[in-house]
Amino acid sequence: MEGTKMSSLLAPRTALPPNEVLGSILTSRSVVHADGTAAQLHSETSGEECAAMYQFLRENPPDCAIEIGMAYGVSSLAILTALEENKRGELISIDPYPPGFDHIRQSALLAIDKAQLAHRHRHVHAESELALPRLISEGIRPDFVYIDGHHGFDHAFVDFFFADRMIPVGGTIAFDDSQWRSVHRVIRYLVKHRHYEEINVGLQKSFASANIVNHAYKRIQNRFGPSRYFRKTDDWKPPSNFYRNF
Ligand SMILES: C[S@@+](CC[C@H](N)C(=O)[O-])C[C@H]1O[C@@H](n2cnc3c(N)ncnc32)[C@H](O)[C@@H]1O
Repeated sequence: MEGTKMSSLLAPRTALPPNEVLGSILTSRSVVHADGTAAQLHSETSGEECAAMYQFLRENPPDCAIEIGMAYGVSSLAILTALEENKRGELISIDPYPPGFDHIRQSALLAIDKAQLAHRHRHVHAESELALPRLISEGIRPDFVYIDGHHGFDHAFVDFFFADRMIPVGGTIAFDDSQWRSVHRVIRYLVKHRHYEEINVGLQKSFASANIVNHAYKRIQNRFGPSRYFRKTDDWKPPSNFYRNF
């Protein structure tokens, strides 16, 4: 991997964050809406990823964390549980919840409330491409950014662009769904053109695919999931004329 190196190899960490609300959502794979009706969980950060993220944040306690993409609040609960145990830090979750999806926002906020973690949490009800520059001008400087919002290449890249502007050297950016072609492209850029080191948080590499051809293609591209973590090692970025002669 050009420009990055893999840091400390850790044993797989599978223990879920110690949080009853999160545990019950993940084991039942269901969530409760504000009106009391239940719905099936979907598109969430997996139990293993939550466990790895929780452990990482316990070992690397942030003062401020940002997550892009809150949905039903699964990753929010994993992050907030770590912050609460650390006894420091706040989480800003960014998610626009388009019209028709407000019940999901309410369900996430309800779960966070029920877990008694709301005092460490703030939800920014906007698209990340608009919210992140506003947070920059407010002087917000997160140590950890989790990118799990709109998964199109342009959106994932813009999320990375602003996250990179916000975090200090030593800060970490994590990508969910790193095996998606769109997200992988952003990671390839980061690896090749920025100074980050990949952190092994104990997650098993997966090239899982719907068919054998895709599986082989992913292996050739070294395109794997689930989440991948990158720590910024210095502030270098290509100057504006860097690509002139390529
Ligand atoms: C995969 S889900 C997030 C799952 C969540 N991290 C969890 O573990 O439960 C993706 C979320 O991104 C949100 N999203 C879509 N476009 C976005 C954007 N432009 N900015 C921020 N979030 C966005 C969607 O509303 C959706 O809730």
